[in-house]
Amino acid sequence: MSRSQRRGSPEAPHQADLVIVANRLPVDRVVNPDGSVGWRRSPGGLVAAIEPVMRANEGAWIGWPGSTDSDLEPFVEDGLSLIPVGLDAHEIEEFYEGFSNGTLWPLYHDVVAKPEFHREWWDSYVRVNERFAARAAEVAAEGATVWVHDYQMQLVPAMLRELRPDLRIGFFLHIPFPPAELFQQLPWRRELLEGLLGADLVGFQRPGAAQNFVRLVRQRVGHKTHRDSVYLPDGRIVQSGAFPISIDVAGFEELARSEAVGRRAAEIRRQLGNPRKILLGIDRLDYTKGIYARLRAFSELIAQGDLDVEDAVFVQVATPSRERVEQYRVLRDDIDRLVGRINGDLGRIGRPAISYLHSSYPREEMAALYRAADIMVVTPLRDGMNLVAKEYVACRYDDDGALVLSEFAGAADELRQAFLINPYDINGMKAAILAAFHAGPKDLAKRMRAMRKTVADHDVETWAGEFLAALNADLRTHAKTVRPARRA
Ligand code: G6P
Repeated sequence: MSRSQRRGSPEAPHQADLVIVANRLPVDRVVNPDGSVGWRRSPGGLVAAIEPVMRANEGAWIGWPGSTDSDLEPFVEDGLSLIPVGLDAHEIEEFYEGFSNGTLWPLYHDVVAKPEFHREWWDSYVRVNERFAARAAEVAAEGATVWVHDYQMQLVPAMLRELRPDLRIGFFLHIPFPPAELFQQLPWRRELLEGLLGADLVGFQRPGAAQNFVRLVRQRVGHKTHRDSVYLPDGRIVQSGAFPISIDVAGFEELARSEAVGRRAAEIRRQLGNPRKILLGIDRLDYTKGIYARLRAFSELIAQGDLDVEDAVFVQVATPSRERVEQYRVLRDDIDRLVGRINGDLGRIGRPAISYLHSSYPREEMAALYRAADIMVVTPLRDGMNLVAKEYVACRYDDDGALVLSEFAGAADELRQAFLINPYDINGMKAAILAAFHAGPKDLAKRMRAMRKTVADHDVETWAGEFLAALNADLRTHAKTVRPARRA
C-alpha cells in the first residue's frame, strides 16, 4: 500500500500484518456545514497509543464509525488504513446500548447500576462480533497479528481463530474484569470466557483482573491453569496478564507548556473570579465515575464553613455519553438537580459553588483546565484505569497541584502519592479534599514529582510495545513478528 495516499481517500483493504479490532474507529464521522462528510480524529487514548505501531506495521483498524451508515468503504485517513463496520439502528439498540452498555458495562463495574439480561441483546452481540471477526479474517495477512480491544468484542478472538488459525491474536480489556461472584450472574458466562480464550494473550489493566479471569476459566470452563497461564486440551496455551494503559505523556506536557495553553489557563482562572483554589473534575457523564458523591462532598465542605465560595470553586466537566441509555438519562437529571440545588443554596452573585459544563472539549482546552486546576478530583466507584488522572499529572510540569484519587481506579496502583480515597466514604472524601486544599507546597511537590516520574517512565507507547512484545514472545509457531514503533 502506498503511504502517500490522500487524506480520506478510499482504497481496497490491503492484507495487513497488524490489525486492530475495536468497537470504534479512531475517527468520528462528521457532517461539515456545507453538507459534505468528513472525519475528525477521535480524542481517545487508544489511537494515540496504537498509532505509532500501526504506522510501523502498515496496520489496518476495523471499527464502527458511530453512525448508522452501512455502505462505508475502507479508506485512508492521515496515513491510517481504516475499515468501517456498520451497525444498523437495531444493532445500535441491542448490541451497543443493550448488551455492551446495559449488561456488560454495569456488570463489569461492580454492578454499581443493575445489569439487564436480555436474550435478544445477546443474540445481537453474537451477530455483531461475528461481523467484526469476519472482516478481520479478510483483512489480515498470513500469520498477521490481530489485536482485539475491549468488552464490546469479547467473542471476536475465538470466532477469528476458527476462521484463521494462522493468526496471532491478542485481546486487551480496557475496563475492569469482575470477580467470579459477579461474573457468574451472566447467563452467557461460559460463551464469553470461551470467546476470550481464542486469544493467545488476554491483557487486563490490573493483576487482580487477570486472576479473576484465570480463576473463572478453571471453575467454569474446566481448563487446567497455572498462575497466569491456561492450558487448553488441544495443547494451546493462553497467557493472561496486567498491562496498565497510559497516555501520550510527552504530548500532553508539550501542550501544557505551550504559550496558548498557558494563556488560556490564566484566562480560565480570571473568568472564575480568581479564586484561591480551583477544584476540577473531568469525566464522561457515567454513573461509574462517582460525580454525584464528589459534588455532595464539596458542597458539604462549603455548607459547614470548611471552605468558602470566595476561596474555592469546583469546575465539573461532564462529557455527554450514551445518552439514549436509560441509566445515563437518569444520572444526567440527578446531576442537573444536584448542581442546581447546591448553587441555589450556597452560591453568591457571580460566585457559583460549582461551575458545571455538560460538553466535550478538545485536548488544548483540557490541558488548559489541568493547568488552571489546583486540585484534580477523580472519584470513580470503579474504573479500569482513568486516564484523566494521568493527564493531570503529565500537565503539572511545575510539580505543583494535588490529585485526589479513588482507590477503585486502576490508576491508584501507580499513583500512590495521590490523596487516595474510598469514594463510598463521603467523610473520608471530604477530609482528603481538605487535606489537599491545605497541603503545603513542599508536600505537594514531593508527591507530584514521584507521580510524574511514574507516568513518564510508562507512557502509552511503552504500554503498546510491552503488550505486543508479550503477544509475540513465543515465536515457535509464528514466523511473523510485529515491528516496534519507530520513535520520532
Ligand atoms: C470507555 C470504554 C471504551 C469506549 C469509551 C467511550 O473508555 O472502555 O471502549 O469507547 O468508554 O464510550 P462509547 O460508548 O462512546 O464508545
